[in-house]
Amino acid sequence: MKVTVVGAGAVGATCADNIARKQLCDELILVDIKEGVAEGKAMDLMQTAQIEGFDTKIIGSTNDYAKTAGSTVAVITSGIPRKPGMTREELIGINAGIVKTVTQNILQHSPDCIIIVISNPMDTMTYLALKSSGLPKNRIIGMGGILDSARFRYYLSQAIGCSANDLQATVVGGHGDTTMIPLTRLATYCGTPAANYLSEEALKKVAADTMVGGATLTGLLGTSAWYAPGAAGAALVEAIVRDEKKLMPCCVSLEGEYGQSDICIGVPVIIGKNGWEKIVDYKLTEEEQAAFNKSADAVRNMNSVLSTLDV
Ligand code: LAC
Repeated sequence: MKVTVVGAGAVGATCADNIARKQLCDELILVDIKEGVAEGKAMDLMQTAQIEGFDTKIIGSTNDYAKTAGSTVAVITSGIPRKPGMTREELIGINAGIVKTVTQNILQHSPDCIIIVISNPMDTMTYLALKSSGLPKNRIIGMGGILDSARFRYYLSQAIGCSANDLQATVVGGHGDTTMIPLTRLATYCGTPAANYLSEEALKKVAADTMVGGATLTGLLGTSAWYAPGAAGAALVEAIVRDEKKLMPCCVSLEGEYGQSDICIGVPVIIGKNGWEKIVDYKLTEEEQAAFNKSADAVRNMNSVLSTLDV
């Protein structure tokens, strides 16, 4: 089993770290465009092998995709991260060209692999990877909803005063500050409605904090977050390589599901060895569906920018 992570920045390296610690593959290829960075981070990570007790072999490569040949899964984290005050959408001009090139390079050497997109603006980058590669839709998955849902559970756990592990809570829609939809109605604490423990106002605050969860961290850190995004990417790799059939909110291509078509956006899906295998219908209320449609409009608007770019 071989897994490739492209982009050895903070998110890519953290994702690789999690993949290695969980021993999700025999060989992990870390690729970066900057001379020496992937090799350096791979060597640094390999020096944790004895401390952490893993046997995954991590190999760094400066843009040599031949080393990635035969990968089962490839995670794309390449591109620039956002700075404080920037939205994810503002990154499109630079990141679109990068994501398209990286996708082509990966597929040249691993035509059967499943591609996970983390680069922002993630929904549009996933759509671009799908359209430019012509891959079957089940093999292109955008990672945003797992991260946003983990943040939702964090804020809920803080508000209720409970363990995040006792919560079920899902974010659907776009991976943007104004496009994501934390489904508060469906949030539960050990199977009981979260609304039993929090006022409507408190739940609204949890949802609002979740939506700007990434921006809050960017404000504190001066750049985009990496621990949770990297761990979420690795969780998605795990569900694929272990064929877990786990339900995870991911950005996938819709063909009429949730009332939308010709778009990649976050919905609950089953993840297994074939990539995303099935979309699960949460039966949204009218109000939730209206929010989802609005989110889809915003994502579609962003996708339309792609045709104005030279990619
Ligand atoms: C975030 C970036 C990775 O939400 O999109 O932190």
